Amino acid sequence: MRKLGIGVLGVGEMGKRHAENMRRLVPEARLVAIADVAAQRAQQVADELEIDHSYASLEEMVQHKDIDAVLIATPDKFHAPSIRIAAAAGKDILCEKPLATTLEEAYGALQEVSRAGVRLQIGFMRHYDPAYAAAKKRIEAGEIGTPVIFKSVGRDKDEPPMAAYQSNVNGMLFYSNTIHDFDLARWLMQDEVSEVHAYSTTAIRPEVARYGDIVAGVVNLKFAHGAIGNIESYVQAVYGYDVRTEIIGSKGSIFVGTLQRTPVTFLTTHGSNKNLADHFLSQFADAYLAEARDFVHTMLSDRTPLVTGVDGLRALEIAVAAENSHLQGLPFKVSQGKAAH
Ligand SMILES: NC(=O)c1ccc[n+]([C@@H]2O[C@H](COP(=O)([O-])OP(=O)(O)OC[C@H]3O[C@@H](n4cnc5c(N)ncnc54)[C@H](O)[C@@H]3O)[C@@H](O)[C@H]2O)c1
Repeated sequence: MRKLGIGVLGVGEMGKRHAENMRRLVPEARLVAIADVAAQRAQQVADELEIDHSYASLEEMVQHKDIDAVLIATPDKFHAPSIRIAAAAGKDILCEKPLATTLEEAYGALQEVSRAGVRLQIGFMRHYDPAYAAAKKRIEAGEIGTPVIFKSVGRDKDEPPMAAYQSNVNGMLFYSNTIHDFDLARWLMQDEVSEVHAYSTTAIRPEVARYGDIVAGVVNLKFAHGAIGNIESYVQAVYGYDVRTEIIGSKGSIFVGTLQRTPVTFLTTHGSNKNLADHFLSQFADAYLAEARDFVHTMLSDRTPLVTGVDGLRALEIAVAAENSHLQGLPFKVSQGKAAH
């Protein structure tokens, strides 16, 4: 059996899970190396996963001849430069969201991907989540008629440490969190978002504003063919990790998502208490694995990725418009640039 040689770049919370999946749960993948700017961390994860090669930079890692593809899970700001390096070295790429934190960098990265003739998949793993995938199929089959309204909620459980804002290596809320819903909006509504109007707050944690970020945001959407939508994102919901989406159509509605991690209700003297999801790694464990498997199969069989660089670009364009709307306090048109890939 031919195996796809993989190098994982950035092995923090997300990258480590990807590396574990590639090492243990994708038979057609061979995890060849790990790279992380924290060399000790790279070494430690390589040891844990019993692989021989670890590096302190992508430039070193791509020289390994057994690496066919690079999985990028660095903080957001390093995605675009890493895509360029991997592409220039002739490697196929699975890159975590967002594609980039500026449009200029996004275009540059896609241009290099196109020039090098490699393939790029973006880590919008909800396409692989069984519930979202089922919803998409039923919408495509016309079961809810014409989609009219898109509503989505994305709440993380615990407030991020202040250092996460101070480090300035990740995009603001619209780029790092709401971007999933911007992508879902396009994918599930089968349409493009043409205009956004963002409202935001830092009222319960004003220090966050100093770093250009927000604690919660609500973004109203207009779609090109007349539908409307609304997305709410919140970083410190306290009670759990809460991701839900509803698509309301002319013939019915589809509701995706549940707060429950396991389909069990516990009834006690205190009433009922449910086992809530508390983290993306538990809520979307199956989706991350299905994404890894599909990426490997897609590369080995020379197909086009399910989630492309253009999907990454279109979601980023919506995030940029939402940030502009938040800064200017006005509705903002989403402008679509010409993608090289
Ligand atoms: N798809 C999803 O559901 C999902 C969920 C969580 C995170 N993410 C994305 O994954 C990425 C990583 O997030 P995380 O939570 O694992 O972050 P993290 O801070 O836990 O880990 C980042 C890792 O990258 C390393 N690193 C930093 N700069 C680097 C560089 N220039 N080159 C190589 N390594 C570098 C750090 O040392 C660290 O080990 C982010 O882009 C985030 O948006 C996606």
